[in-house]
Amino acid sequence: MKTKAAVVFEPGRPWEVVELELDPPKAGEVQVRFVAAGLCHSDEYMRLGELRPRYPLVGGHEGAGVIEAVGEGVTGLSVGDPVVCSFRPACGRCRFCAMGKSNLCDEGARLFEGSLPDGTFRFHHGDLDVGANAMLGTFSERAVVPAFSCIKVAEDLPLTSMAMLGCAVPTGWGAAVHSGDVRPGEVVVVLGSGGVGINAVQGARMAGAAETVVVDPVQDKLEIAKKLGATRTATTADEAKEIVQELTGGHGADKAIVTAGVPGLAESGFSMLRKGGTLVLAGMGNADTLRLDLPVSLIARADMRIVGSAMGSCNFQIDIPRLISLYRSGDLRLDELVSGTYALDDISLGYEDMYSGKNLRGVILFD
Ligand SMILES: NC(=O)c1ccc[n+]([C@@H]2O[C@H](COP(=O)([O-])OP(=O)(O)OC[C@H]3O[C@@H](n4cnc5c(N)ncnc54)[C@H](O)[C@@H]3O)[C@@H](O)[C@H]2O)c1
Ligand SMILES: [Zn+2]
Ligand SMILES: [Zn+2]
Repeated sequence: MKTKAAVVFEPGRPWEVVELELDPPKAGEVQVRFVAAGLCHSDEYMRLGELRPRYPLVGGHEGAGVIEAVGEGVTGLSVGDPVVCSFRPACGRCRFCAMGKSNLCDEGARLFEGSLPDGTFRFHHGDLDVGANAMLGTFSERAVVPAFSCIKVAEDLPLTSMAMLGCAVPTGWGAAVHSGDVRPGEVVVVLGSGGVGINAVQGARMAGAAETVVVDPVQDKLEIAKKLGATRTATTADEAKEIVQELTGGHGADKAIVTAGVPGLAESGFSMLRKGGTLVLAGMGNADTLRLDLPVSLIARADMRIVGSAMGSCNFQIDIPRLISLYRSGDLRLDELVSGTYALDDISLGYEDMYSGKNLRGVILFD
């Protein structure tokens, strides 16, 4: 079958929307017709070669669609089912899935290679095997993906908003709720309020933060952050630090959550923490040059905690239904996060709108 997809052929080249050949699903796989795909910043890092997957690669690791075909042995998913695709798979059998850490599932080793779990590829361009970001490739009209990367959702849910449950929402919400373990009454700083960060703001609010200080240079992002849980906002980290000092009588924040891959931002977040505070690192960037520069002796002496956050430390089979319940109850806002929709052919425009600060989350809509 043919499918139109946005591909990176070599790092640094623009997205190229081309027709690919798509193989049918093998055992344990399903074919999804995507309805919506979110424009996460991570795909751009891959296009630019800052994060280095195998190329060529169909972009997109956040999406929702409808099952069109199922491979041998697939249970629990049928043709016609609406699904959300998670960028972290959950095989259910490996050590990490068994530990309740499915965000670290061993099958995730293929996320950057883009092959399916059996090591082969379903997308082809002439003789070239084309990988799929996170084994998904949601920037394609159709894709063949592991069944264990999909979760069935109710038919009445709007798939445009549900698409963001594949990455931005659990990544941000979980960075506050799980990785940061935000507790009632705490003072939290969220650095970066884009697609991921705005969901950290919502997560901090739901976890009971007394104060959530949000830093982003783009004023429009701060305005929506105020509606969704920010109690104070700042356009620079220095300004946020002053606010934190004032709020805590000079002690510092309980948690700082970094949701942008900007050099120096993690260090700024760290400098705002109290003794024993937690720095949560969710933002990514250049694999070689984005490093941490922190005082080890102080970290030891002051009992500081520094934690990474992969998909917000979420177990998607549990957390996506939970997030949907919170959406239905009105606690988790999703529709408001979709700031622009684009045809697949206009993907580069969607990303320009991310860079210019116009987009909170751009979403590709398929016909
Ligand atoms: N850990 C994970 O599992 C995971 C998953 C998805 C995305 N990510 C990463 O999270 C980051 C955010 O992704 P996104 O899709 O939300 O991107 P985004 O571009 O929508 O958001 C980044 C935000 O940071 C803001 N920003 C820029 N410079 C800043 C500064 N100096 N101080 C404060 N804010 C600043 C931008 O205005 C923007 O609002 C990226 O680095 C991405 O690669 C990580
Ligand atoms: Zn993402
Ligand atoms: Zn697993």
